[in-house]
Amino acid sequence: QELKLNLEQIEKGGYPHFMLKEIYEQPQAIRDTFRGRMREHKGIIKMAGVDDHIDKFLNAKRLVILACGTSWHAGLVAEYIIEELVRVPVEVEYASEFRYRNPVIEKDDVVIAISQSGETADTMAAMKLAKEHGAFVFGVCNVVGSSISREAHAGAYTHAGPEIGVASTKAFTTQITVLTLLGLKIAKAKGKISTSDFHMHLEELRLIPEKVEEALKNNEHVRKIAEVYKDASNCLYLGRGFNFPVALEGALKLKEISYIHAEGYPAAEMKHGPIALIDEQMPVVVIATRRGHYDKIVSNIQEIKSRKGKIIAIVTKGDVTVKELADHVIEVPEVMDSMSPLLTTIPLQLLSYHIAVMLGKNVDQPRNLAKSVTVE
Ligand code: AGP
Repeated sequence: QELKLNLEQIEKGGYPHFMLKEIYEQPQAIRDTFRGRMREHKGIIKMAGVDDHIDKFLNAKRLVILACGTSWHAGLVAEYIIEELVRVPVEVEYASEFRYRNPVIEKDDVVIAISQSGETADTMAAMKLAKEHGAFVFGVCNVVGSSISREAHAGAYTHAGPEIGVASTKAFTTQITVLTLLGLKIAKAKGKISTSDFHMHLEELRLIPEKVEEALKNNEHVRKIAEVYKDASNCLYLGRGFNFPVALEGALKLKEISYIHAEGYPAAEMKHGPIALIDEQMPVVVIATRRGHYDKIVSNIQEIKSRKGKIIAIVTKGDVTVKELADHVIEVPEVMDSMSPLLTTIPLQLLSYHIAVMLGKNVDQPRNLAKSVTVE
């Protein structure tokens, strides 16, 4: 027993929980995911699984992304990124819905199945269905040799390394990294992006690990904010554009490890219902980075403030406007809008982690959940 405990301590590398270790591994995990693929000097992105089937991607009339949970959130971010870069429609489906509703699948559809574990039963069944209908299936998995990676026609691995914590963290950011590379690669092959724009994107991506490191420096500040809100019974997360899926992901992280009820919404949807929930008891986490619909987000924040909601805002470094309105701000470095989810998600992971620890919850193995959901 003692030996087992010691082994676990060693595996945690000095961190109290796997989740925190994995949050801190993100700069390296992202670097490992793009290293070897970005050949900036040649102006290309190397992804064998795409290169070998480039016609499929060039001829696809649409892309369909299938996934569950956090991987589905990464798929939503990818929808925004790929549509922007490639100008081809992207649909993101819950694998569990897709598989049971006789979906329309065309021969020239490209289906992307995203799964950290590569073993999620619903994602596996959905991709098999797509295959039966003649679609080309591309897998994005973290676990090498996993069932989904073997079932796919081709794919690209995320290089996040083993993710032990049930709450997915580094898998999410590395999935976004791979899908960004994929979007850039197809856009380049289709002539949808200029050479200078392509290089600008690669340069931005190359700087992400350092920026994630900078975002992680807010850990203590986030811990103090967690102290204030740990006893909340509800929490609302709002974001727009590329950061709408991050709001969903932030809410999922909080509910799965702290058991606090949380909801993520596109900020503009607030006025269609959730605004009724806002009072002085309600913490609202708002992703309010400078480039993404900033003015609109500022007016959303004003609406929350006038109803006495408590505002925790994720802002771009040096922000002044939101700082005056919010109860707390957490800064992240400046970055191009499409890559901001890689940074804005960091404080949300830390916030849920600290709240769960303060509440004495089993952070790495929350109740009722498994790391791989291999049942329907
Ligand atoms: C995330 O924190 C969850 N534990 C869960 O939603 C997970 O992302 C989902 O079960 C999908 O898993 P997969 O990526 O291994 O397919």
